[in-house]
Amino acid sequence: MSTLQSLQKSPHMMRNRMSDQTHDGRTIEVIFPPEQIAARMSGLADEIAGAGFRDLLVVSILKGSFIFAADLIRALHVSGLAPQVDFLTLSSYGAGTKSRGEVRIVRDIDLDVTGRDVLVVDDILESGRTLAFAKNMIAARGAARVECCVLLDKPVARAASVQPEFTAFPCPDVFVVGYGMDAAYRYRELPYVGRVV
Ligand code: IMP
Ligand code: MG
Repeated sequence: MSTLQSLQKSPHMMRNRMSDQTHDGRTIEVIFPPEQIAARMSGLADEIAGAGFRDLLVVSILKGSFIFAADLIRALHVSGLAPQVDFLTLSSYGAGTKSRGEVRIVRDIDLDVTGRDVLVVDDILESGRTLAFAKNMIAARGAARVECCVLLDKPVARAASVQPEFTAFPCPDVFVVGYGMDAAYRYRELPYVGRVV
């Protein structure tokens, strides 16, 4: 059964495409429904497969990108790639919704990136600090090529200059949750991207 089919059979399935009720009684406005995310994944994977990476290493930034990365790497397989995959846990937000402005490594990747082509995968680009930190760190360790792929790109003034080479969707400038993204560690399980209203 595909992820989409299992979601459609879920007892907690969305009531409609535009809003959903969480178990704690909050209403969530759905911005990107599961079908739209699933439909975008293969096109995005084809873009990455067509970019000429050699022996690709995908680095998924945790925790927010874990669901996006899981779907993306399976789409990359369908598009003919067999990347190595590693995880980099970074922290910038704590339990709030405002960036503290400093990025720190909570858990580093295992692999040596020297001479490697690396695709950094993150959930959302906002100030750019997280992605710039990851990209600069991997480049400084001697990677041959470092590019970035984000699920969502918020059109806000960047604190750090970084432009993702691959983007699934432009995102309205609101705090979003779901599809791996949290507010105070909640809502990561939601199969869509939405906004708590
Ligand atoms: P940046 O460093 O300001 O670009 O923020 C990027 C990181 O902050 C992402 O990796 C997310 O984990 C988190 N983040 C930024 N905006 C949101 C949001 O709207 N919802 C959930 N997490 C967010
Ligand atoms: Mg993140």
